Amino acid sequence: MTRRTVRIAMNGVTGRMGYRQHLVRSLLAIRESGGIDLGDGTALWPEPVLVGRRDLALKAIAERHGLDEWTTDLDAVLTDGSIDVYFDAQVTSARESALRKAVAAGKHIYTEKPTATGLDAALALARLAHESGVRHGVVQDKLFLPGLLKLKRLVDGGFFGRVLSVRGEFGYWVFEGDWQDAQRPSWNYRSQDGGGIVVDMFPHWEYVLHGLFGRVTSVQAHAATHIPRRWDERGQPYDATADDSAYGIFELESGVVAQINSSWAVRVNRDELVEFQVDGTEGSAVAGLRRCRAQHRSGTPKPVWNPDLPATESFREQWQEVPDNREFDNGFKAQWELFLRHVALGTPYEWDLLAGARGVQLAELGLRSSAEGRRLPVPELSL
Ligand SMILES: NC(=O)c1ccc[n+]([C@@H]2O[C@H](COP(=O)([O-])OP(=O)(O)OC[C@H]3O[C@@H](n4cnc5c(N)ncnc54)[C@H](O)[C@@H]3O)[C@@H](O)[C@H]2O)c1
Repeated sequence: MTRRTVRIAMNGVTGRMGYRQHLVRSLLAIRESGGIDLGDGTALWPEPVLVGRRDLALKAIAERHGLDEWTTDLDAVLTDGSIDVYFDAQVTSARESALRKAVAAGKHIYTEKPTATGLDAALALARLAHESGVRHGVVQDKLFLPGLLKLKRLVDGGFFGRVLSVRGEFGYWVFEGDWQDAQRPSWNYRSQDGGGIVVDMFPHWEYVLHGLFGRVTSVQAHAATHIPRRWDERGQPYDATADDSAYGIFELESGVVAQINSSWAVRVNRDELVEFQVDGTEGSAVAGLRRCRAQHRSGTPKPVWNPDLPATESFREQWQEVPDNREFDNGFKAQWELFLRHVALGTPYEWDLLAGARGVQLAELGLRSSAEGRRLPVPELSL
């Protein structure tokens, strides 16, 4: 097979997402499987150019994976005519200006979410990219998770009848950092550095709800900072100024009511770190990252409320596992492949900067709803 190279400047590749999910589990995994088969005897071959602030850290990653291009000079990489795609997995607050530069330099854009720290900027970015004719995509990885793909199969197959409600539970305990190290970077807990669970998770909930059940038309949220003091990577205490928990209710244009709790201050008593229960007139399902279980109307038991007796039924065992029926790849890799095909062949791609702006919009309105203590409409966005 002939190789066609696509050169990708990867910024933020020393970070959690940039390194593990995007470099190792996506682009390097694509190379290990021989590239992306374009169907005409050509394999699309991603060539990462590592970009960041710390030369030594980039060099170490490059050497570990047999790569030979890295730089701390973003401007130089953007003026390099051989670079096709600019990818951004930096901290959120650094993203917008880098994306603007990359669009101005005529690069195709692929980026982590949120695309900007506010709606105006996110929408302006989407318009800029659209007008300049570059191809653009935003990471919406949850849609490619096995559990949610199986849930989508149930939706598309008409399993639920009329969907009534969605209940999402996301979260786990993030250690404060004093007696055990925190498992997430400290900037996530400082609003002045772009942190906060609403800004982080509402963009995910927007595309999950939109992609499965319809556009979000209103939001009512209550955000809280349950743990006000944390310890950073150097063991120094700091004020956690950002929200670490959010309790949200979303109405969808389909009439579905979704309620999603997001928290870094809960202990897990679930099967997975995120789970969505969907109830419909014909059936219900619970989907997590990997699994999806369903209960049809005809197989629904009839519990009777009686607090005087111990529970006689094992409710969890009354659900049926939705089979895989196919192999599921890493969600980040699956989305990268679709985006790179879009770049190479112009195949349709819907998860673009406008879709990314919808996520930023929901986060912004969620925070405003919480601050003002009221439900807010979510206007439909257009370019
Ligand atoms: N899609 C997902 O599921 C998902 C999950 C977690 C995070 N994210 C997003 O990915 C992005 C990165 O998150 P992460 O958890 O990998 O963060 P991280 O702190 O581990 O990595 C941040 C990266 O940005 C770089 N950086 C650039 N400017 C910086 C600055 N001024 N201060 C600190 N670091 C700077 C760092 O060197 C590092 O490479 C965020 O925008 C976050 O919202 C997405």
